[in-house]
Amino acid sequence: MNYTKLQWWDRFQKYHTAFPSVGLAVDLSRMNVDDAFFASMEPAIQKAFAFMAALEKGAIANPDENRMVGHYWLRNPALAPTLDITGEIKRAIAQIHAFAAKIHQGTLKGAGGSFKNFLLVGIGGSALGPQFVANALGDPRTDKLKPFFFDNTDPDGMNRVLAAIGPDLNRTLTIVISKSGGTKETRNGMLVAQDAYEKAGLHFGHHCVAVTTVRSDLDKVAVQNEWLERFPMWDWVGGRTSELSAVGLLPAALQGLDIDGMLAGAKAIDEITRGTDYKTNPAALLVLAWYASGNGKGIKNMVVLPYKDRLELFSKYLQQLVMESLGKALDLDKNVVHQGITVLGNKGATDQHSYIQQLRDGLNDFFATFIEVLHDQDGAALEVEPSTTSGDFLHGFFMGTRQALAESGRESITLTIDKVSPASVGLLIALFERAVGFYATLVNINAYHQPGVEAGKKAAGNIIEIQRALLKYLEANQLKGFTAAELATAIGQPEEIESVYKVARHLSANGCEVEFIPGPALADNKFGIFE
Ligand code: PA5
Repeated sequence: MNYTKLQWWDRFQKYHTAFPSVGLAVDLSRMNVDDAFFASMEPAIQKAFAFMAALEKGAIANPDENRMVGHYWLRNPALAPTLDITGEIKRAIAQIHAFAAKIHQGTLKGAGGSFKNFLLVGIGGSALGPQFVANALGDPRTDKLKPFFFDNTDPDGMNRVLAAIGPDLNRTLTIVISKSGGTKETRNGMLVAQDAYEKAGLHFGHHCVAVTTVRSDLDKVAVQNEWLERFPMWDWVGGRTSELSAVGLLPAALQGLDIDGMLAGAKAIDEITRGTDYKTNPAALLVLAWYASGNGKGIKNMVVLPYKDRLELFSKYLQQLVMESLGKALDLDKNVVHQGITVLGNKGATDQHSYIQQLRDGLNDFFATFIEVLHDQDGAALEVEPSTTSGDFLHGFFMGTRQALAESGRESITLTIDKVSPASVGLLIALFERAVGFYATLVNINAYHQPGVEAGKKAAGNIIEIQRALLKYLEANQLKGFTAAELATAIGQPEEIESVYKVARHLSANGCEVEFIPGPALADNKFGIFE
């Protein structure tokens, strides 16, 4: 990639593709791609198009979970394979609009008056999309409800959020979101929220709604406790592709954001990315560049760099979408492949004062994905220097970094959008959903399951079991200290010494009755109950 400025310009003209009907351009001129590479990939990308077409028609595209994959139907319900599904999607959108109207008009109120906040409780695909959209499109000057999030089971984190809500809890609507309805972090967040409402003398259910699949544990809790409303999730929508279902649309509508605009933006780019000529398909162009850069093995990391504060959480959102979808041990033929693309990033120009030093001069183990937003701001801009605004500087920093990377042989893609709007946010979500699907076919993996996430949940469950057994044993054998090895044997898990040690150490640091008695070496440290 050692070109003169005029040669870069030639590449730009050749590999910059504009999609003016949706306000998008994809520039691959700074990637190591050429016509011969694209030609060599033609059969593979055609296979990806065919797989995607079958998926959109309702094929079992997630074989491990025996599920259809239907997130494309959410923005075009007429595409759904059955009239029942079409009807369910339309009813859910109408339900969201009707509910948001009741909240905004004050027909439905909290104990303290009309709702002014929402508290979203969810994790992973049930939180990252809503957080990204709330930040991208929200504005404290115009938001109808102010968003708050519990996206973890960290008690201190939740306490901070509750403190920020303060006495307005009686005007805060809690939205508990879990597709499965059984995720422990979300269940814990719900219980912490419930406890806060009850301590404030409030009826939790009268300030709460659920988004979940019918008859999940969460759904049952919502019914039993007279929650205000329940919104549907379906098994054919994956968590990380659920932003344009009730998972993302409900909080966005409550915040006062234009959810129809988001759906329209997604639908419009879907129509373009359904095309079977890769040259005019922006999702195909993207994944061909990913494939070329990482040699089809993901050996280069994707550094996502939006030059726009509003898109800061897009990198985090994409991290889940890409890594949970593509990070797989086995391919569809059960060969061990350990696929994936590592995604990181925050925003420019901020990151230029952080890790971009390494991108430019250090390890060449990445390709950047710049997101350039043409429209700087609404209203008049301040001139910070003669004829130059702050937005001009932001653009200058983007251009400078792109050029500096290219000059030192570092690859970058640039996606240009006109402005951050409901339509362009819907577009970005749908563009990358499609790209991830195409890439999965190129490398022959299932993008729609997450065995690693399930394994993590199971492993955490085992630790909690160890904790329960440990406490029971120590309570029954008080006034004596035990090493971790002794405790592991005592609870019948002699190989779990390290887990026992870590659990006991955590218990002893948290005001429970378990005491930590340091010994000369780590293995001699003891734990016991002496009260
Ligand atoms: O994308 C996924 O499937 C996961 O990240 C889930 O969204 C996450 O585990 C939360 O699951 P649930 O919505 O069932 O609580």
